[in-house]
Amino acid sequence: MVKIAAFLTLFTAYLVYSATVYTYGTRDTIQVKESAVPQIVYGKTLYQQYNCVACHQLYGLGGYLGPELTTTYSDPAKGELFMRTLLKGGGLRMPNLGLSETEINGLVSYLKYVDSTAISYKKPAKP
Ligand code: HEC
Repeated sequence: MVKIAAFLTLFTAYLVYSATVYTYGTRDTIQVKESAVPQIVYGKTLYQQYNCVACHQLYGLGGYLGPELTTTYSDPAKGELFMRTLLKGGGLRMPNLGLSETEINGLVSYLKYVDSTAISYKKPAKP
């Protein structure tokens, strides 16, 4: 009887916890304008087409020739203009992929979105 009661208590707690995490967990923290979604999806497609993942990581996954891109957008030392410059002309090792302005806009929107989801991934601000 005690075992059944313990099981039911823990199982109920598990259900409540799961429901909360999956319904409220990220609701207020990540907000994307409905109108921005197609542009973000376009950028994601380009990210896959150009195989950026061969050299770059998002959330630590990907190749290691280039730097991690998860929080480049909000990095005070880098940011949007820095990203655009590298995407446009390439770098020392980053190839110039001949991206059009439309493609660069898409990729930047995608990386901006990825950055906005990286809440627990960002380093705490220096005091
Ligand atoms: C052949 C490997 C390679 C590929 C493919 C590649 N990159 Fe890079 N990327 C690099 C390297 C290496 C750097 C670091 C700068 C340098 O050394 O040129 C870089 C730098 C960057 C930066 C600046 C980030 C920082 O923290 O310095 C951005 C943004 C970027 N790449 C985005 C992209 C995107 C988006 C794609 C796909 C369209 C892509 N890269 C494809 C190698 C690559």
